Amino acid sequence: MEYQYIIKGGEPLHGEVTISGAKNAALGILAAAIMTDDTVTIDNLPDVRDINVMLSAIESIGATVKRLGPHSVQINGSTITDLTIDYDSIRKIRASYYLLGALLGKYKKATVALPGGCDIGSRPIDQHIKGFRALGATVNIEYGMIDTYSDQLTGNHIYLDMVSVGATINIMLASCMAEGRTVIENAAKEPHIVDVANFLNSMGADIKGAGTDKIRINGVSTLHGSEYAIIPDQIEAGTFMIAAAATRGNVLINNVIPKHLEAISVKLIEIGATVEEFDDAVRVCATGRLGHTQIKTLPYPGFPTDMQPQIATLLALSEGTSTVTESIFENRFRYVDELARMGANIKVEGNVAIIEGVAGFTGAAISAPDLRAGAALVVAAMVADGYTTVDSIEYIERGYENFETKMAGLGARMAKIPVDNEKELQKFKLKIG
Ligand code: UD1
Repeated sequence: MEYQYIIKGGEPLHGEVTISGAKNAALGILAAAIMTDDTVTIDNLPDVRDINVMLSAIESIGATVKRLGPHSVQINGSTITDLTIDYDSIRKIRASYYLLGALLGKYKKATVALPGGCDIGSRPIDQHIKGFRALGATVNIEYGMIDTYSDQLTGNHIYLDMVSVGATINIMLASCMAEGRTVIENAAKEPHIVDVANFLNSMGADIKGAGTDKIRINGVSTLHGSEYAIIPDQIEAGTFMIAAAATRGNVLINNVIPKHLEAISVKLIEIGATVEEFDDAVRVCATGRLGHTQIKTLPYPGFPTDMQPQIATLLALSEGTSTVTESIFENRFRYVDELARMGANIKVEGNVAIIEGVAGFTGAAISAPDLRAGAALVVAAMVADGYTTVDSIEYIERGYENFETKMAGLGARMAKIPVDNEKELQKFKLKIG
């Protein structure tokens, strides 16, 4: 059955929310987990759609996957029989391509369907391939598949032409059991790069420098079992920070690493919100209308592209003219038309959104164009006057665990109901008065 969110705006968010494990770290870590023949236990796994797709892809090649609970899984890679990941997995989730690096690193051979473009822009993987070739692998692309193999992988010096999260992780995976030393220069520095490296090290890998732009990997002959807990999700946390500020609420966001949120915190403070940092929590509150600013998305520690739609939504409600420049993906403003239907005044010129703040939004029937934009539209709905329905929430569920329950726990008037179900709609309206 297809579902939608129904939201009645106007309620400031209050209280506490707990952030789940980082989806993007988990995707790399699950792929890495198949690289040993021992059993690996992974905790603080977010219970979201993308993770379940990745676990199915891992099962489809013969690895043993045992769910210990919604946030914990045991994986054993000794039973792998198939080194091919088909288009069905890749189509559902691009990050299945981490299995290319993991299988190549472990078995010196892998075939994975070539991911296509996607809703946020063209997404080439030339840097991944350049890395595999530098390690001595043959890489052929034919019939829509990337086929890669090698008699022996040997460490090398690899300079990435652009900062890529995916290429950095894939090269770490492929090289951690290669002969000798690999150096990745111009590496991505995102928190999840560090988490994947820490996990590989916990399995016996020798990776140094993750979190800087130069990662050094000394190949080891085998990896062993491990038990590991994934870091909290920086983007889920950031989304709740924006929701707290946009609704002029006061929310304590638990289970975060405040350092990972700095780019977001700094911008919120600059436009007039209050952000208080604790050891593993942040409190965000806002009282009146916030101010304007300029934002440009950049690789970490810059402002994350995955927070661009959410901050733009907040700025669309703030005073004055703001600009948001998207410098990572070219097609990430598709939510602007939906926001305009709620009353936002945003003009997109190339990769820049020029935002004239308005005093408020009004509810409308809207549709999530992708994961993060979908979350941004939910925030818009929580501020809007009247009712909003958000369709295509399967995008949002790819990366947000129990989004409606967590929001409702903070006082948002929001529920998940079957699409076009008048009875459920009326029930919601009666319930919230
Ligand atoms: C990851 C995140 C995604 C986030 C993005 C940027 C995961 C599963 N996804 O995506 O949520 O939005 O980082 O923070 O972690 N590029 C190339 N050639 C390549 C690789 C990348 O040209 O071989 C370009 C891309 O088109 C893009 C830029 O480099 O313009 C950054 O992409 P990258 O960091 O690789 O993003 P992903 O790993 O796909």
